[in-house]
Amino acid sequence: MRILPYAVAALFVAATPVRATRAEYDVAMLKLATHSGCMVCHSILPIPKRADGLPPIAPAWRDIAIKYRDDPRASDRLTRTVMTGSNPYSRHWAGKVSVVTMPPNAAAVTEADARVLVNWILVLVP
Ligand code: HEC
Repeated sequence: MRILPYAVAALFVAATPVRATRAEYDVAMLKLATHSGCMVCHSILPIPKRADGLPPIAPAWRDIAIKYRDDPRASDRLTRTVMTGSNPYSRHWAGKVSVVTMPPNAAAVTEADARVLVNWILVLVP
């Protein structure tokens, strides 16, 4: 059975996952977030008040990660919020960010990509 070693080798290669390092993951996600328009409003780390004295446009993603760190359903809920926009009558960041609500992002990002982004945001805890 000469073929066996090759078959075993092929199996081994197929079973070995291709793993990105944390830095590669961060770079890829930031690129996706930038292409999806998220970074127009969001920052990764909290920013102080803007030069005009107004609060930031949107919550920093590290603050979102901290707020939902113990919420096992956050991934599903936030993915839906990203796709459909935030509810202007029940704001989660009222008083902390500008008065503009998050518009639906469905035209800019697929639901699968939104989920990938939300899952990345949720691990940005310090
Ligand atoms: C036009 C500005 C804008 C854009 C573009 C935008 N957001 Fe937001 N986002 C906001 C604001 C404002 C809030 C705070 C909403 C609130 O107070 O409930 C927010 C909240 C969020 C939240 C937290 C929601 C909650 O209920 O706490 C997540 C997660 C989020 N955005 C992800 C994204 C992602 C991912 C993208 C890109 C696909 C994106 N946002 C694009 C303005 C924006």
